[in-house]
Amino acid sequence: MSFSHPNFGTIAEDRVIIFDTTLRDGEQSPGFSMNLTEKLRMAEALAELGVDVIEAGFPIASVGDFESVQEIAKNIRGPVICGLSRSAPGDILRAAEAIRPAERRRIHTFISTSPLHMKYKLRMEPDAVLQAVIDSVTLARQHTDDVEWSAEDGSRTDPDFLCRCVEAAIKAGATTINIPDTVGYALPEDMRRIFAMLIERVPGADRAIFSTHNHNDLGLAVANTLAAVSAGARQIECTINGIGERAGNAALEEVVMAIRTRPDAVSRRPNIVTERIMSTSKLLSTITGFDVQPNKAIVGRNAFAHESGIHQDGVLKNAATYEIMTPESVGLQKNSLVMGKHSGRAAFRDKLQALGYGGLGDNQINDAFKRFKDLADRKKIVYDEDLVALVDDEIVRDHDRIKFVSLDVHAGSHGPARAAMVLEVDGDIRSADAMGDGPVDATFIAIRNIFPHEARLVLFSVGAVTEGTDAQAKTTVRLEEGGKMVDGQGADTDTIVAATRAYIHALNKLLVKRARTEPEALSA
Ligand code: KIV
Ligand code: ZN
Repeated sequence: MSFSHPNFGTIAEDRVIIFDTTLRDGEQSPGFSMNLTEKLRMAEALAELGVDVIEAGFPIASVGDFESVQEIAKNIRGPVICGLSRSAPGDILRAAEAIRPAERRRIHTFISTSPLHMKYKLRMEPDAVLQAVIDSVTLARQHTDDVEWSAEDGSRTDPDFLCRCVEAAIKAGATTINIPDTVGYALPEDMRRIFAMLIERVPGADRAIFSTHNHNDLGLAVANTLAAVSAGARQIECTINGIGERAGNAALEEVVMAIRTRPDAVSRRPNIVTERIMSTSKLLSTITGFDVQPNKAIVGRNAFAHESGIHQDGVLKNAATYEIMTPESVGLQKNSLVMGKHSGRAAFRDKLQALGYGGLGDNQINDAFKRFKDLADRKKIVYDEDLVALVDDEIVRDHDRIKFVSLDVHAGSHGPARAAMVLEVDGDIRSADAMGDGPVDATFIAIRNIFPHEARLVLFSVGAVTEGTDAQAKTTVRLEEGGKMVDGQGADTDTIVAATRAYIHALNKLLVKRARTEPEALSA
């Protein structure tokens, strides 16, 4: 089947399109929200990873969502930039406006088609839904040639009705047809049957790309994705680290590496630079404050670690005995030892390039270099992980109103702890002292004294970036104000400084949230 797509032209038979929805389906799940700077950084990383489409957000959902989609459309080159919309004209027009600056753009419009959703959620008759499919795709096509239509809850939709909706969407001009397993209910066999049926039965099926979008409620998102591809799906919707609604979406890294590792079983290839998988995964963890679990496939800390003697012995003799893919193929450096305090700026820049930070500006490199020198003075060995934590920390704080300057803490088993804090607030240097019940308490009170606020601390967690007693601490702070939650992250060899950086990061995010007048939040 040869098909000329408005944005991709003729797509080779053996090509599968990777549609990344980390910034939409992923970002809308609790605790994973990102601000504009973070979304832009993530979008850059996705472009470097080689994804074909970035679903940048849901522009009607809030002013913040609209602005992020628009900024990504203005700044990111390479992937098609996509905005999500329901079937209402207002949604579609807002999505069209947000993606307009993009070099290549797509509107993704959806409506529920299952009996359950039509009756209880939409309160619409099937014929009215069918009409909405036609109207929404027709309107979207007036704003871009690249229109994706999704049948929400598609896997639980009556097959005849699904065929009618898909046929109508293609006739109205949809170039991609996405069949989501919205509630993660399907089994691989269901997926195979649905895609084979649509491709076989729907007139005009050869004029569209079929796409699969799977949620992981039963832990089957990746298996369902591969089943759909084996039945003819040519676009995969997925997210980094598998983040997304509830149990998440199919994880990009898992789907891509499954295809790469088993070319004998899957005949279509993605265009992903797999060596960038690890750095993209880590960037997302740094931004959101959620590490993947150690045994997570592909990107977990233990994914390539061989603990048992028998396995280690086998790997030393021939890595293929226990490794089905190489650590290097996903960007894990075998020798993660980096530079020491005598390393120069050029070596530092080269190292950042190798770690996937080629796009940093001179100011960012200079600031990161200063922090690297400072870290190298305090820490015997600086690993790649340390550099990633440090540089991510620098990048996400670029536009912060409140910046950390210095901290002195006195703590111990005698009496209350004391903190002397210096911060830069909107360019002014301010300082405060505080006493508290332990060093973290004293530090957070000192921040409050410098910058009074009502936000409540709801979570404080500490982990280590690498091993050893001189490892950098990686902290997460969650603040809540008026029902809005934000997470901040910080890294430093001093746990209290890391905590301070995390608190300030969260506070800066809260200020950005406050500055935006957001209408009632929506999610898809
Ligand atoms: O899961 C789902 O149905 C979705 C649609 C909006 C595509 O995310
Ligand atoms: Zn979804």
